[in-house]
Amino acid sequence: MVDLSFKYRELIKVIQKEIPEKPDVSLILGSGLGDFANSVEVKKTISTKDLPGYPPSTIEGHEGKIHFAEYEGKKLLIFQGRIHFYEGYDISECMLPVFISYKLDCKRIFITNAAGGVNTNFQPGDLMLITSFNSIMIKKEITELIGIASEKGKENLNDFTSKGFNSIIKNAALKEGIDLKEGVYWYNKGPAYETPAEIQMVSGFGGDAVGMSSAHEAIFAAFLGMQISSVSLVTNLAAGLSPKKLSHKEVTETANLAKSKFERLVKRMISLL
Ligand code: HPA
Repeated sequence: MVDLSFKYRELIKVIQKEIPEKPDVSLILGSGLGDFANSVEVKKTISTKDLPGYPPSTIEGHEGKIHFAEYEGKKLLIFQGRIHFYEGYDISECMLPVFISYKLDCKRIFITNAAGGVNTNFQPGDLMLITSFNSIMIKKEITELIGIASEKGKENLNDFTSKGFNSIIKNAALKEGIDLKEGVYWYNKGPAYETPAEIQMVSGFGGDAVGMSSAHEAIFAAFLGMQISSVSLVTNLAAGLSPKKLSHKEVTETANLAKSKFERLVKRMISLL
């Protein structure tokens, strides 16, 4: 078990000084969705470069900024960029956005990502509320991080993802007239997108969308007692389901086209909190 309070004590000290108020919700913005931060009133921006021990982001489209912002009177902590396992980082580093949110006493976290659509009813540009995560590909690392779970930790995982928080998102979609799909997010470690054979396996085991983030963040947040809800933006059809060759460019281009729908959903969700 890794003691993150010890490992990140300097970093947490700095961020607690910079952000003295308790956020109502923390948002982790996935690939190509970072622009959301520019649509709310940002009070303070911290570059992750200025936080001792924060790993540098290596991916195009991932900014490495943390914002403290407000929208309709709600206080937001926004992570523009996250840390991925496929960048070569340790799981304890990948959990930093969650751990920082927890240390700022934030009780809710909204985790977003770009994902490949496996469910053949999905189209690029669709938003999918994650009803369950399949994190089998990263179980070992999660177990090493969490250690032998306490009774409380196990109990916290009973409402994962949070039914109450999910119903707020569904309500927000309804009010905005957004066709919010629902499904299972299957985590893969990467570093590359899947092969068609891997996607066939994911499909056979009930995955609706695949991606390389979120699952471990969500489990850890729930374990710590936070309410979690998570939405994927389907940026492409998963490998083998389309004649097109998959690329990061396609992912960011679709995210660009769908970002106003995403922004409407998230803003409505915030106003309903
Ligand atoms: N696979 C994995 N991660 C992704 C994908 C995908 O097809 N699209 C966006 N992120």
